Amino acid sequence: MKFADQVVWITGATSGIGEACARGFASEGARLVLSSRRPDELERVRRSCRNPERHLTLPLDLTRTAEFPALVASVLDRTGRIDVLVNNGGVSQRARAMDADEAVERLIMEVDYFGPVSLSKAVLPSMLARQSGHIVVVSSVMGYIGTPGRSSYAAAKHALHGYFDSLRAEVWREGIKVTLVCPGYVRTAISTHALGPRGEQHGRTDGTHVSGIAPEVCARALIRGVARGAREVHVGGWEVAGIYLQRFVPWLLARIVRRMKFSVHNEPASR
Ligand SMILES: NC(=O)c1ccc[n+]([C@@H]2O[C@H](COP(=O)([O-])OP(=O)(O)OC[C@H]3O[C@@H](n4cnc5c(N)ncnc54)[C@H](OP(=O)(O)O)[C@@H]3O)[C@@H](O)[C@H]2O)c1
Repeated sequence: MKFADQVVWITGATSGIGEACARGFASEGARLVLSSRRPDELERVRRSCRNPERHLTLPLDLTRTAEFPALVASVLDRTGRIDVLVNNGGVSQRARAMDADEAVERLIMEVDYFGPVSLSKAVLPSMLARQSGHIVVVSSVMGYIGTPGRSSYAAAKHALHGYFDSLRAEVWREGIKVTLVCPGYVRTAISTHALGPRGEQHGRTDGTHVSGIAPEVCARALIRGVARGAREVHVGGWEVAGIYLQRFVPWLLARIVRRMKFSVHNEPASR
């Protein structure tokens, strides 16, 4: 068991990748703290994990960062330490840049960027005191490339790389590891929950996600990456090649991306 008795705190644990990570880490012996906004769903996931009595649920909204220090204190009271924080909770976008309300763009940055940054900063003092800990951040292929209809989402995911690469360079001497995970398309409810131009939910599963990899495959890659202390984990189908095209032949990627069919809210699905 790779994570026997380690305390692993997962955000976005009620659905998709976070739910699969919860079951995966529990199978590896971890004691979980499961967080997101919906308490009933957190309970459902807790009960579905191995040794459910060892795990806690802790409702949390990623936009309410002022509450994080008190939430961290309550976790430390109950568990004594946090070994791994998996910043997974997030929301995607289905809107053209010109149509998106600024309030919605800000909300996406709050959930996808400031939420993980704030929670990590609230957890870090206890990790630094122990000279041990692991911060995991679920970014995306969109952390490297920007595609149509996802401007704010891609911006938030790019921002995570800048922030957490800097943080990694600051804290490695203190025994803290930072892993960024970049999935391609995963078969979850992400497109259903994605926000349209006025913040309305997209409400349908796009074809790219119907044919994406299973969340369990993504969770297994994440857990393996965390176990070996990887700097980054790239997981998914052909679309993961976008990361390497961006790095080595950016002009070619730009040509591919501008021809992409894409889905935005309230327009017929194009793929
Ligand atoms: N699916 C993909 O293709 C894909 C690809 C690359 C990266 N990702 C990333 O993977 C992560 C998980 O996404 P998923 O695919 O599993 O999507 P999902 O099924 O929609 O799950 C999103 C999770 O985030 C939580 N969440 C959303 N807004 C929140 C908020 N304001 N406060 C707290 N929790 C919130 C949701 O829980 P509640 O509703 O209970 O709060 C849910 O548990 C995200 O960071 C996403 O960007 C996904």
